[in-house]
Amino acid sequence: ARRVLGHRNLVFVGLMGAGKSAIGRLVAQMLEIPFVDSDHEIERVSRMTIAELFEAYGEAEFRALETRVITRLMKTGPRVLSTGGGVFMNEATRSRVLKSGLSVWLKADLDILWARVSKRDTRPLLKTANPKQTLSDLLDQRYPVYALADVTVQSRDDVKETIAAEAIAAIA
Ligand code: S3P
Repeated sequence: ARRVLGHRNLVFVGLMGAGKSAIGRLVAQMLEIPFVDSDHEIERVSRMTIAELFEAYGEAEFRALETRVITRLMKTGPRVLSTGGGVFMNEATRSRVLKSGLSVWLKADLDILWARVSKRDTRPLLKTANPKQTLSDLLDQRYPVYALADVTVQSRDDVKETIAAEAIAAIA
């Protein structure tokens, strides 16, 4: 898998709660390449949390910053890059990732996603009257787009190492 990647980035896409960061970090360890989480990178450069950014500047500004961060990260590699759930929804970013990276959609069922995201209160998009319905709507909107990723790996409630190994097998 490491050889298949060359200088490209391995980019994890998918909805909140799919395990992009946890699985991405493991895959990076297994492939012995650096790991970067785009949300953390945004928080590092802005010195604010994602929730604070949304609150202070709104979603559009957050998306602009997100696009800049991903564009910069896509210029060098190889590394494993876990992206925020909205990254692949941006057409220009998506084509950049498809052209210069290798993308893995971590796909999970609504109940698994919900079980994970409802444990924490950090996602501004889910601050709605019915967050599970909001997550379900996002799933309907986004799954056809995430499906454009190079490979798809099912994220179940399984041992993380198993899913990470499946992701590596899928690209090798
Ligand atoms: C978002 C997902 C979040 C974060 C922001 C918006 C989205 O990242 O970037 O809250 O649009 O799906 P995770 O997918 O890592 O939770």
